[in-house]
Amino acid sequence: MKRIIIAITGATGTIYAVRLMELLRAETTLEVHLVMSRAAKMTLKMEHDADLDYIHGLAHEVHDYGNIGASISSGSFHSSGMIVAPCSIKTMSNIAMGNTGDLISRAADVVLKERRPLLIAIRETPLHAGHLENLIKLSRLGAIIFPPVPAFYNKPVTLQDVVDQSCMRMLDQFDIHIESAPRWGEQGGIPAVGQQIEGGKKES
Ligand SMILES: Cc1cc2nc3c(=O)[nH]c(=O)nc-3n(C[C@H](O)[C@H](O)[C@H](O)COP(=O)(O)O)c2cc1C
Repeated sequence: MKRIIIAITGATGTIYAVRLMELLRAETTLEVHLVMSRAAKMTLKMEHDADLDYIHGLAHEVHDYGNIGASISSGSFHSSGMIVAPCSIKTMSNIAMGNTGDLISRAADVVLKERRPLLIAIRETPLHAGHLENLIKLSRLGAIIFPPVPAFYNKPVTLQDVVDQSCMRMLDQFDIHIESAPRWGEQGGIPAVGQQIEGGKKES
């Protein structure tokens, strides 16, 4: 079974992670490994209705942030890559500097060294030169720098429309194509919010 690692940090935008996990449950061929920082748990409580149990229930395996001996901290653990969403400046900088004292930065560093895709959904604005230099460094190392910037050509009506579109585009980077938002020139279905989809992709 293919595996994907989802890491959630304490940047605002935990809604992205929750939706990614919901969409990934539709992919019955994918095993989802989740790790959340302490700040992520705090931010989640402040800005989202979903509780920790719900999010944990969307993962096949949940890893403790402090457990640097977890399976995902080793290159021998095969995966299709990792998404850090939302990604704080702190964690992004740690990854860029090779500061791997927690499971998120360690797993991300492993993904980079194994030349697997690492998507950084950086969430901060505005950005100073230090942030940009670290992002450039990560990009040169092969990371996909993906600030969740909304598109408007698909005429989003709700906040969920905006989130769904960004999540779809994040998963596209891993060759996981879930039609959670209309694509330019195509028709796509939008799964209900909070719904765990059973039985694979929605037909368009
Ligand atoms: C409600 C809230 C929103 C935050 N939003 C951001 C943000 O958008 N970007 C960011 O880099 N940090 C943000 N922070 C600060 C991070 O949570 C903080 O830097 C934390 O140390 C990040 O740790 P982590 O990377 O281990 O999750 C926010 C904090 C709170 C409480």
